[in-house]
Amino acid sequence: MSAHVSPGGFTGTSPVWLREPADVNALVPALWSASARKADGVLHIGGLAVPDLVADVNTPAYVLDEDDFRARARAFRDGFAGYDVYYAGKAFLCTSVARWVAEEGLCLDVCSDGELTVALRAGVDPVRIGYHGNNKTAMELRRAVDAGVGRIIVDSFHEIERLADVARQLGVTQGVMVRVTAGVEAHTHEFIATAHEDQKFGFSIASGDAFEAASRVLAEDGLDLSGLHSHIGSQIFDTSGWEVAARRVLALHARIGTELGRVLPELDLGGGFGIAYTTQDDPSDPAVLAEQLTKIVTGECAVLGIAVPHLSIEPGRAIVGPAMCTVYTVGTVKEVALDGGATRTYVSVDGGMSDNIRTALYDADYSCTLASRVSSAAPVLARVVGKHCESGDIVVKDEFLPGDIAPGDLVAVPGTGAYGRSMASNYNHALRPPVVAVKDGRARVIVRRETVDDLLATDVG
Ligand code: LLP
Repeated sequence: MSAHVSPGGFTGTSPVWLREPADVNALVPALWSASARKADGVLHIGGLAVPDLVADVNTPAYVLDEDDFRARARAFRDGFAGYDVYYAGKAFLCTSVARWVAEEGLCLDVCSDGELTVALRAGVDPVRIGYHGNNKTAMELRRAVDAGVGRIIVDSFHEIERLADVARQLGVTQGVMVRVTAGVEAHTHEFIATAHEDQKFGFSIASGDAFEAASRVLAEDGLDLSGLHSHIGSQIFDTSGWEVAARRVLALHARIGTELGRVLPELDLGGGFGIAYTTQDDPSDPAVLAEQLTKIVTGECAVLGIAVPHLSIEPGRAIVGPAMCTVYTVGTVKEVALDGGATRTYVSVDGGMSDNIRTALYDADYSCTLASRVSSAAPVLARVVGKHCESGDIVVKDEFLPGDIAPGDLVAVPGTGAYGRSMASNYNHALRPPVVAVKDGRARVIVRRETVDDLLATDVG
């Protein structure tokens, strides 16, 4: 943090990366969906003025730019030509989105019975669904196998037994991948890193468990091992983590070929491609990522003298994250004195950690803008907070907003599409906000706002 003195004389404390904008009304395009723009200070998305949009649906609301979502899906499909691209539904899933994913030619990754149900309800071809999870129940496995899910990614020895039983009972052969742990420390928050040894996912390559898992799957008549699966973590920018993981996973892949006599046809490199939440982040294009990952894999296969397996990836955040923003109404504004004479402007909005837990959970940074009008006031360093009963209820830790920000103003936060609505909660009995899809000047509610009746429906007295 550094002391900050604005041209207007305002003194505050800001993180070193945050620069006072030349024009506080302007958008930083890299953080927004492609159709987002300002006209006289008013934010427009999908050809619609945000104030008009929320006049119908109220706030808080998630606004999803359909064309932007589809374009990002296509960018992965085309950039990673020759791969199968599985959209990771955990980032955000509803029936409309599952349909868009299928229409754009992507496969779908689910990790629960609920996500599978949404996918099937949307009419997604089950063969194009991959099913993850470190603790799938026998009932969930049975439903997945029965539905004809293309691949189930097994994560424990218990699950291999459980799944083999289910396949036997249903008299089918189930496609399987083995989730492996490559022992990589991905450069991201520890809660969303998944390839170091001391965590719950996958079979360790180093300990020999991953080889043992592959041999047990191969020994089961009802299970058809198509390949290994490695997901190293999320919000990653640097391909060095994938490089180390690919080297270790491919060495195991080759060993299974020589020692178990089975050349596995496939390999999944997982998701985790980072997006720009603030000006600190500089993500690569899918085509560039594809080139880098393909080079890593083909190079390693050449060293090992093995054929390159059919590759797949599982991006979630990089497709839906930037396609969605959250719109809030400001309720109160408070200036709070800090040590050393600085002040911080607290802007309370009508949502908070119930619609975006990422700031509290991962110390995530976000950005925001005044969405409903132009302002000529000097910028102040603000903190956008929610309405929940704890001080950690922060949406945007640090952002410059116009100094005349006031109750009734709309504030929009970009990049909330991934893990915003999907990790939303009813904390303090909040009603989870709607998702409104916008396209060509038209808005469509694709997930409606919860009602008090929804909340009370489970309270059976
Ligand atoms: N594949 C697997 C096996 C995964 O576990 C995940 C994410 C993905 C793909 C998609 O990762 P993505 O491309 O979206 O980064 N709630 C956290 C992220 C948890 C990710 C869990 N797994 C967050 O809000 O940052």
